[in-house]
Amino acid sequence: MIATAPFAKRLLQWYGDHGRKDLPWQGTQNPYKIWVSEIMLQQTQVATVSPYYERFILAFPDVRDLAAAPVDDVLHLWTGLGYYARGRNLHAAAKLIVNEHQGQYPATLEGWCALPGVGRSTAGAILAIAHGQRQPILDGNVKRVLARYFAIDGWPGDKAVESRLWQHAETLTPHLRVQDYTQAIMDLGAMVCRRRQPLCNRCPQRLHCAALLGDSVHAYPSPKPHKKRPIRSVAMLLLFDSKQQVLLARRPPSGLWGGLWSLPECDLGEDIDHWCQSRLGLKVEVNPPWPSFRHSFSHFHLDVTPIPTHVKNANAVMEKHETVWYNVKRPDRRGLPAPVKRILEQLRTTP
Ligand code: ADE
Repeated sequence: MIATAPFAKRLLQWYGDHGRKDLPWQGTQNPYKIWVSEIMLQQTQVATVSPYYERFILAFPDVRDLAAAPVDDVLHLWTGLGYYARGRNLHAAAKLIVNEHQGQYPATLEGWCALPGVGRSTAGAILAIAHGQRQPILDGNVKRVLARYFAIDGWPGDKAVESRLWQHAETLTPHLRVQDYTQAIMDLGAMVCRRRQPLCNRCPQRLHCAALLGDSVHAYPSPKPHKKRPIRSVAMLLLFDSKQQVLLARRPPSGLWGGLWSLPECDLGEDIDHWCQSRLGLKVEVNPPWPSFRHSFSHFHLDVTPIPTHVKNANAVMEKHETVWYNVKRPDRRGLPAPVKRILEQLRTTP
């Protein structure tokens, strides 16, 4: 029998005493549930994901339910979680599993990685947790743990640095209790080896951590080389018809907010009267703008100025994408970008 190496041994011991054992996606080996949770947990914290995960599983209890659902229902449940490509990819992958793989989940790393939205670490986590396969993972938390433990210089997004981290992840992953180990190393990163204010005195690896021994925990992992986030400004048009309904247009399927229902946007300096006439075939009376607000993405800031207008010929609407007149007082189920949801919510709650 292969003995569990000291790093894993210490980690598993700590996990037994302190790890998280009743997250909503734990206590199951169901690959569908593990897969959904791992996709939601990419780039999003446990506390945010939990209620979204529970609603999602209630709405789509298995992969066939998900594959059969309209993408709008999926995106509706994703509203507010961000990174909507994850929802679209999950839906597309469910269709592939049902239609091309007879409802069977892949049993290999390559098989999982071939599905949209599944990268090597996610594939590793699914195979380790659902199938007990010895597969390493390397999400953001694990990168931080290993960068500190081995005092690895360089930004982990850099290919060469990432490749060193993968080698360590591979070596450290034990042959036994791989499910627990996988959860444990993520828990250690989230709960102890935190990005800010790490709790090194509670860490099971504290006597062996190169960064701690060198009194340089905060230097690891090296930050991404600096690039300032650019600011984009946009006007979001609130086009009201005579029944106080608002025009929403579906965004193209890929790119920012792909497939979500949004307010028509134009540049801030635009002559709105003319823009609405030429782009939408609508004659409008423009009212004073609402105060601007900022919505930040990982790669830029979006400054949004909502501009209310009254439409005089609502039936004439023409648009190259789908449009709908939306009753804000009786919202229906559709995927909305977070700032649009916020504007519509403001409209719904004002008399
Ligand atoms: N982050 C990614 N996967 C996770 C999981 N299974 N539990 C907690 N955090 C995670």
